[in-house]
Amino acid sequence: MKITVIGSGYVGLVTGACLAEVGNHVVCLDVDAAKVALLQSGGIPIYEPGLEDMVKRNAAAGRLQFTTDVPAAVGHGTIQFIAVGTPPDEDGSADLQYVLAAARGIGRHMTDNKVVVDKSTVPVGTGDKVKAAIAHELRARGLDIPYAVVSNPEFLKEGAAIEDFMRPGRIVVGSDNEQATLLMRAIYAPIQRNHDRLIVTDVRSAELIKYASNAMLATRISFMNELANLAEKLGADIEMVRQGIGADPRIGYHFLYPGCGYGGSCFPKDVKALIKTASDKAGVELQVLKAVESANEAQKRVLSRKISRRFGTSLAGRHFALWGLAFKPNTDDMREAPSLALLDDLLAAGATVTAYDPVATHEARRVLGNREQLRYAETPNEALHGADALVIVTEWKEFRSPDFELIKERLKQPLIFDGRNLYDPAFVRGLGIEYQAIGR
Ligand SMILES: NC(=O)c1ccc[n+]([C@@H]2O[C@H](COP(=O)([O-])OP(=O)(O)OC[C@H]3O[C@@H](n4cnc5c(N)ncnc54)[C@H](O)[C@@H]3O)[C@@H](O)[C@H]2O)c1
Repeated sequence: MKITVIGSGYVGLVTGACLAEVGNHVVCLDVDAAKVALLQSGGIPIYEPGLEDMVKRNAAAGRLQFTTDVPAAVGHGTIQFIAVGTPPDEDGSADLQYVLAAARGIGRHMTDNKVVVDKSTVPVGTGDKVKAAIAHELRARGLDIPYAVVSNPEFLKEGAAIEDFMRPGRIVVGSDNEQATLLMRAIYAPIQRNHDRLIVTDVRSAELIKYASNAMLATRISFMNELANLAEKLGADIEMVRQGIGADPRIGYHFLYPGCGYGGSCFPKDVKALIKTASDKAGVELQVLKAVESANEAQKRVLSRKISRRFGTSLAGRHFALWGLAFKPNTDDMREAPSLALLDDLLAAGATVTAYDPVATHEARRVLGNREQLRYAETPNEALHGADALVIVTEWKEFRSPDFELIKERLKQPLIFDGRNLYDPAFVRGLGIEYQAIGR
């Protein structure tokens, strides 16, 4: 099939590469000329395990191309995936300018029947707006070309994006057009040969399914974070509590890990956007989600609170080793990362920091700019030299079994603030290290 993917970021690039991998001819369009030039030269703008090889393989086979040429890209695909960003507007609602620009581009240049597939996370009702934007452009051209607009939200996780795309738990297709639904079945047939995972709904329900999913996952995290803070005060161990409640099959173990807050490009913005859609479009106050959001904002500060309790509110003259910058392991994505809130607090209180992350240092430099108080290390152990404490923010695998003796040796005093509960408190404390984790 001939497929165009508009937007070549985390979702668009993975979608394009995976659809090319199963034999389609895919053209990925992006407005970012530097990104497209990098992709055309065989480079990859993001860190995502397995993606570079897949892109190279399919580009070499002629199945995957990159362009900034809108008419050519629109002309190519019978199916036009929209996978551009939907960042939060100032008021928290999803900013649809990129989605609607992509839709207008399709309407301006299409010359034959298209199925337009919205893969970006968009508020309920956006399908209608996309349809209207295309209709408007076609009218301006005096044309009446048939097209369908389908919602196909993406559920991949950064860090495991290819695996998630190729082995999806479910594929949601919101469509009111039978032909378009059939085409969507055909596109996804190669990756669901084992059993049908397609859930077909109306467009609005599909749009809401995506927000509801992320909102539910964020709720579980905030719920556990609140209980962790309570467990600390009551002298219980949240890890034991987590295992105790996760064993109930009605609850399960997923997304029950307490920590220093959720971040990333999806949960924070999607929770905000759903709250906003509810209040603006339906006059409904989503009380649970409001609490989820404010609990998370507070939780992003949990480590700096612990640090100031230990060292006082002024951290002038204090130095910290920071392990982990990315919002989660296996990605270089820094959007809304808890490390940013922590760094804000530490630097504002006068501390200096040496940070290490296996892949996100480059992105952190871009986001944070040059700060006198912040340096970056090449290895985790290099970051430790002369620090008052080690602070762990991202649960990268390489942090899970560190050389504790070396940590003791290099820190000014043996002290770890662990925002991801990586270690057994009894074991670490047994080594003579002061260990402050979350809810333990
Ligand atoms: N990142 C994730 O893990 C994830 C998972 C599921 C869903 N989503 C959703 O998918 C969407 C995309 O997210 P992302 O993380 O891939 O974003 P991203 O910022 O990584 O990529 C978006 C890309 O779209 C390009 N773009 C913007 N306007 C364009 C236009 N008019 N034409 C062509 N290209 C254009 C940008 O230059 C950028 O490269 C968002 O709605 C997001 O909420 C993201």
